[in-house]
Order: sequence, then structure tokens, then C-alpha cells
Amino acid sequence: MKPTKATITFDNGATPIELPILTGTLGNDVIDIRTLGKHGIYTYDPGFMATASCSSAITYIDGEQGILLHRGYPIEQLAENCDFLEVSHLLLHGELPNAEQKMDFTSRINGHTMLHDQLTNIFRGFRRDAHPMAVMIGVVGSMSAFYFDSMDVYNPEHRMISAYRLLAKMPTIAAWSYKYNLGQPFMYPKNKFNYAENFMHMMFATPCEDYVPNQILAKAFERILILHADHEQNASTSTVRLVGSSGANPFASVSAGIASLWGPAHGGANEATLTMLEEIGDVSRIDEFIKRAKDKSDSFRLMGFGHRVYRNMDPRAAIMRKTCYEVLAELGLQDDPMFKLAMALEKIALEDEYFVSRKLYPNVDFYSGIVMRAMGIPNSMFTAIFALARTAGWIAQWSEMNSDPEHKIGRPRQLYTGEAKRDFVPINLRD
Ligand code: CMC
Repeated sequence: MKPTKATITFDNGATPIELPILTGTLGNDVIDIRTLGKHGIYTYDPGFMATASCSSAITYIDGEQGILLHRGYPIEQLAENCDFLEVSHLLLHGELPNAEQKMDFTSRINGHTMLHDQLTNIFRGFRRDAHPMAVMIGVVGSMSAFYFDSMDVYNPEHRMISAYRLLAKMPTIAAWSYKYNLGQPFMYPKNKFNYAENFMHMMFATPCEDYVPNQILAKAFERILILHADHEQNASTSTVRLVGSSGANPFASVSAGIASLWGPAHGGANEATLTMLEEIGDVSRIDEFIKRAKDKSDSFRLMGFGHRVYRNMDPRAAIMRKTCYEVLAELGLQDDPMFKLAMALEKIALEDEYFVSRKLYPNVDFYSGIVMRAMGIPNSMFTAIFALARTAGWIAQWSEMNSDPEHKIGRPRQLYTGEAKRDFVPINLRD
């Protein structure tokens, strides 16, 4: 029989405290410590190693088994059978759309793909060589100044309009941040294309030529979007929730999520993986870098390896690996030296005792960078594309939080380790 209560006892004889144990649909039970503060007791868990920050019905991960479910559906089935908008509908509304709902959802999203024309001025304020993630943080944040007609976070209708706006406009923002780098004209969205094709059109087309998306690449791109759509309470999603918990508007909250995603330990890993492969340069230098990755006095880590939750193969990585082979075959790039180097690195790391004993497998970012590079997407856009895909998860989680009656402003405690109270010393008497 499962326990329903946990008891904390103290070695000084203080009265023990009983705490309820909560059970979800799947996964670990959690001890509900919310009342501890009333007893003057707090817990310490930097990095949330063992703390659930919320309850959520959107995504489930079993890191030991390598399982990822969105609203109960395995990621493998979604990646094989759905398009990105269907998955976004699933995350946001809880169910896959039927044919009529899909049409309605698609046409609502299509109705919001253009940006307010004055937003182009925000792009133009950046340096030409600005990183696309820096541009996206700025442009998405500035949307609060353009779409304030629907920013009442306590109004479910407003929340949905903002969610649709973010989902619809993010491909335009990501693609334009690249066009701005190139100095090419911004390409307006074309709603005859599907979501993935439209993004590719805005990235790769110019006004001089008709653009016909390659169907195999568009499908691969769709898959990249689906695989990155949501991943429960990761750093950027937790950031979106934390910012949003104060009642901040969705554009500000998602802008903060993009900032959090940018770090190389999180979404920035796909770009960092390619930078690392470029730095390794040749199969003969792999051993040197593996040695560095194991050296605790060296800050270097193998990018695209390891995960906080997965202690088994990341299921997204397995699908992305397959997609990687398909795309490289379609493009005749099987002998691409970078790909060969990546595969050699993967093999060596998977057999190395250091990585095996720590259960450090290649993650989704290891393969997605290679796929995107093969598709002609520059390294600096990899994380921007991750952000575009993760927007679906961010807005679903943000909406869920705002409709949760138990939601409170996020306000962690701390273990203070600074000076105890002391008196001010005038400057002429200081050491
Ligand atoms: N290369 C070398 N050693 C590693 C690596 C790595 N990539 N990842 C973890 N380790 C070691 C780490 O040094 C530690 O060793 P020891 O136990 O001897 O001290 C052990 O493995 C556990 O690592 P940790 O830092 O405690 O694990 P974490 O859960 O805090 O970090 C991680 C997870 C993803 C930040 C980390 O594995 C990492 O930095 N990986 C490289 C960056 C990366 O690929 N990130 C993308 C994650 S997947 C996409 C996403 O969700 O954003």
C-alpha cells in the first residue's frame, strides 16, 4: 500500500510534522510541504532537484524509461502522425483537434501571422549582426506595447487571443530576425503555406523568385518543431511561469522564457553543439575533447550530451537521429565531414565509461543542430527555432497556470549565508 502521509521528525525532540503525500496520474508521488512555513521550517533545493514547482496536466516525462507524453500521447506517435499546429492545439486545449477544429484553429492562427507594421522599426533598431535570440527577446517583449487590447491575464478570452498571437507571429519574428542579419527584405507570411512551410518561405525566399518548399525538408522541419514543442517544467518554461505568476502579461513572460532558453545548458545547446563540432574539426581530435569533458578542472562539457531528467536515451533524440539520416540522404550529404565527425563522437561517447556510468546520452539538440545545418539554416538560428517551437508549450503552461485556482506568485525562500546584522561604519573609519 502506498503511503499517504510523511512525517518529519527532529532530533531535538520538537513535535513531528505530518505532511500529506499527493499522487498524480503517472510518475512520482510528492510530499506536499506547503504548510511547513507555518511551522517556521523551510526546505533547501537549488536547481529544483527534487521539488515539483506546480501541478500540470500537459506533459509527462519518465526519465528512467525515456518516455515523453503530451496529454497522454507518446511523442513518437505525435511526431509520426501530426503536424505542429495539431500538437499546439493538443497542448493548449487538451485534445487533438478533429477536422473541423483543425480548420478553425489553423484559420485563427493564419489570421494573426502578420506583425504590426511598426514592429519593423524595432527590428531596425538592432545592429545588423545582432544575434537572432537578442532580437527575439526584444521584439516579443515589445509586443506588449502593440497588443494591449488583449492583455488581461485574468480574462480567459484575452489569454487565448494572446496565445494565438504568439503562436502565429513567432515564425515571422524568428525569420525576420534572420533576414535582418542578412540585409534582405522581410518576407511577409503567406497563409497558403502550412506553418512549417511558411517559416521556411519567410527565411529562404526573396521577393525576386517564387519559393517552392522542399517537402522532405518541410516535413523534417515540422518534426523539429513538434519535438521541441513542450518539455514540462524545464528552465525556460519555469521562467515563463515564474514571470507570469506575478500577473505579468504573456509577451513579457514569453520574452523572459526566450532569454532563459538562450543559455547553452538549455536551448542554446544546439548552437553550442555545432560550434563544438567546428572546434573539434577532425575525428583525430575527439579523444582530446573527451578528455577535456571529463576533466573537472576544465569547464568544457560535451554539448548535446546529458539531461537533467533523462537517464536513458531522450526519446526526442532517437526520432531526431532518424530524421537526421533522412535529411542527409535527401540532400546527398551522408559524407558530410561534420556529420561523420558527429557520428564518430556519438559512438565514442556512448562507449566511454565516464558517459556510460553517468547515463549521459546524446540529447535532441545534438541531432537537431546537424539537421538544421544540413537544411541551410545558420547556427545562430538554431536556438531561435527552438524558441519558436517551444512557444506552443510556454503559452499552454502559462494559460494552465493562470486558470489554476491554486496558483500563487512564485516566491522562493533562501538560506542566507551573508553577514549577520552589523552597524554602519563611516568611510574614514573603514579598513
Ligand atoms: N559533458 C561532460 N560531463 C557532463 C555533461 C556533459 N555534457 N553533462 C553532465 N556531465 C557530468 C557532470 O560533470 C556531473 O559529473 P559528476 O557527477 O562527476 O560531478 C554529472 O555528469 C551530472 O551532471 P550535472 O551537471 O549534475 O547534471 P544536471 O542535471 O545539473 O545538468 C545538463 C544537465 C543538461 C545541464 C548537463 O548535462 C549539460 O550541461 N549538458 C550539456 C548541455 C546540453 O546539451 N544541454 C541540452 C539539454 S537537452 C535540451 C533542453 O532541454 O534544453
